[in-house]
Amino acid sequence: NNNIRIAIDGPAAAGKSTVARKIAERLSIVYIDTGAMYRALTLKALQNNVNIEDEQSLIHLLKKTTIQLKQTDHGQIVYLDHKDVSSDIRTQAVSNAVSIVAKHRLIREEMVDRQRKLADNINVVMDGRDVGTHILPMAEVKIFLIASVEERALRRHKENISKGFSSDLDQLKQEIIKRDERDSKRASSPLVQADDAIAIDTTSLSIEEVVEKILKEVSQFH
Ligand code: C5P
Repeated sequence: NNNIRIAIDGPAAAGKSTVARKIAERLSIVYIDTGAMYRALTLKALQNNVNIEDEQSLIHLLKKTTIQLKQTDHGQIVYLDHKDVSSDIRTQAVSNAVSIVAKHRLIREEMVDRQRKLADNINVVMDGRDVGTHILPMAEVKIFLIASVEERALRRHKENISKGFSSDLDQLKQEIIKRDERDSKRASSPLVQADDAIAIDTTSLSIEEVVEKILKEVSQFH
C-alpha cells in the first residue's frame, strides 16, 4: 500500500472538518466527512418519523438510503438520495439527534463498511470519531484534535453569527457537552484517542498552525 491515509478524530466542534478540508486541498487528496453521513441518515429518520432509538427501523432505513459526498471549490455537497441536503444536515434538530442515531451497532457497522469502500486504495483524509480506531486502523497518520469546550462553543457561536443564524453560546456549550458524552460513552466504537494518534490541542492555535503541524507529520511518509 503506497497510499497516504490521514485520520482526524476528536470531539464535537474541535475544528476537524475545517482542518481536514484544508489538508485535502494542500495535498490534492480526497476528503471524507464521516459525520455528514450520520447526519444525513438522521435527517431522513426525522423527516420520516422513524424512532431514532429503534435500531431495526433505522438499519432498514439506511439500507435503502444513498449518501454521497462531493467536494467542490465552494465546499462540500452532501446528497441524500440524490438531493442536496448540505445545509439541512447542520440544523440544531439534526445536531441534537445524530449522536443517538450513531450509537447503534448495526448503523455503525453499515456506515464503517461504506466509509472503508469510499477510502479504498486512494489517498484520503477522513474525519470523525472512530477513523483511527475502527474505520482505518492502519492509517499512516492519526490525529486527535482537542480544544476546551468553551473554545469550541465560542467557535461555533461565531460561525453561526457570521452566517446570520441566531445563536446562544451557553446552549451551544450544553449541546456540545451532551453530544461528547453520548459519543464517548456508547458501547460501539466510542470516541476515544487511538494509542498511536498524535493529540493536538487547538485551543490557542490558528487553523493554519494546526494544518502545518499535521502536514509536518504527513511529510514523514513521502
Ligand atoms: O463530525 P460531526 O460533528 O458532524 O458528527 C456528527 C455526529 O455523528 C457525532 O456527534 C457522532 O455522534 C456521529 N459520528 C460518529 N462517528 C463518526 C462521525 C460522526 O459517531 N465517525
